[in-house]
Amino acid sequence: MKIFVTDYEGTEHELEAIEGWSAMQVIHEYGLPIKAECGGACACATCHVYVDPAWYGKLPPKRQEEEERLDEAFDLKETSRLSCQIILDEALDGLRLSLAPNPD
Ligand code: FES
Repeated sequence: MKIFVTDYEGTEHELEAIEGWSAMQVIHEYGLPIKAECGGACACATCHVYVDPAWYGKLPPKRQEEEERLDEAFDLKETSRLSCQIILDEALDGLRLSLAPNPD
C-alpha cells in the first residue's frame, strides 16, 4: 500500500507503507522532516498533519487523548490529525496528507 505526503515545499512524495504501522512511522522512516518528539505516544503533537479533505472522513475517529494534544498543536485546521494515531490498513491505501508547520 502507499500513502502520499506533501512536504513543506509543496512536493508530494509517494511512500511505500506497511499495514499496521502508523502514518508517522512511515513518514519518519522515509526521512521526511516530521519531529514526532514523543515517538508516537500521543504526548507531543509534533507529528501533526493535515489530511486531504477527501480522506478525512475515512479515518477512524479521534480518541479523546488525540483531541487534547491537537488543542496544543500549532496552526490547527479542520482536517488536522496526529499522524502517530493514524494506523494504516488497506482501507487507507492511497491516503493523502500534508506536513503541518512545526515551530522550532
Ligand atoms: S509523535 Fe508525539 S503525538 Fe504523535
